[in-house]
Amino acid sequence: MTTNETDRSPRRPPFHRGRRLRGSAALRTLVRETDLTADRLVLPLFIVPGEGVRRPVASMPGVEQWSVDRLAEEAPALAALGIGGIILFGIPESKDPEGSGAWADDGIVQEAVQAAKGAAPGLLVMTDLCLCEYTDHGHCGILEGDRVLNDPTLELLARTAVSQARAGADVIAPSDMMDGRIGEIRSALDREGFTDLPILSYAAKYASAFYGPFRDAADSAPARGDRRGYQMDPGNAREALREVRADLEEGADIVMVKPALAYLDIIRRVREEIDAPVAAYHVSGEYAAIMAAAERGWLEEAAAMTEALLSIRRAGADFIVTYWARRFAERNI
Ligand code: PBG
Repeated sequence: MTTNETDRSPRRPPFHRGRRLRGSAALRTLVRETDLTADRLVLPLFIVPGEGVRRPVASMPGVEQWSVDRLAEEAPALAALGIGGIILFGIPESKDPEGSGAWADDGIVQEAVQAAKGAAPGLLVMTDLCLCEYTDHGHCGILEGDRVLNDPTLELLARTAVSQARAGADVIAPSDMMDGRIGEIRSALDREGFTDLPILSYAAKYASAFYGPFRDAADSAPARGDRRGYQMDPGNAREALREVRADLEEGADIVMVKPALAYLDIIRRVREEIDAPVAAYHVSGEYAAIMAAAERGWLEEAAAMTEALLSIRRAGADFIVTYWARRFAERNI
């Protein structure tokens, strides 16, 4: 009986041999369709009051809260890593119903921007713009009973945008999901002379369970209720396009989809329908899930995280906001 290879192979060799281009790392690199590089990753940082603070966030291994002075010390190293930029979240000393700390000229984010830009002028500094870290009830706008009021909140957001711009932010990133906020913020910035300051809109932001660890890190969990009255329903895809188009018409320069991994279809649809740059936010819960599995030895951190982030790029995101940006860049160098 003949059992050699030739006898068992088809008469005609396979026409398509995908493996020809998988035979060496060099070939695989040459033909790779999508890249993941540090300059496409933006690192979120949580800034807290005090001095000399660098405090780990329990639910997000590898993530810390920083005081302004420590941020200033660290900024040059972050710039040297070649990451795309940082996005700052502030946790104020005290909170009130309106979130007035958000627009204070000596507010936590304003001071952090100044410190970061002063220490590392070449580092791109974005500011998250929302009231939820600053309100004592933890919602993203002014409350009346259990309802977040849309229009009265707009003016506060615009005020906050202008104060972040004055502090020196390179990009303003509203994450509140109030209707009409991009137009209101754009007009306020223009009125104050910041006509060239770009707006990165969290345009399609879903009411997601994956924000859990962030709310610990930013101390911004709603005291009552949830955010389903203003953030999007996870069942909706077409609505994301309406949100994105509305924000672009109001003057957004970049639109963001958030979360990312559970919404890869949305990233892809926005990429296909919209010409503007598209960002995606790989959120706290998506990060924490992989890090927790890696801590238990169930997943290999670098491989799993790289694959997850690559899927977000492949879906169509031009850049990704991710807590893993720094670890990725450090491994790359
Ligand atoms: C503020 C804001 C949130 C996140 C970014 N900006 C929290 C929320 O909407 O509850 C979440 C980011 C993350 O989970 O990593 N509104």
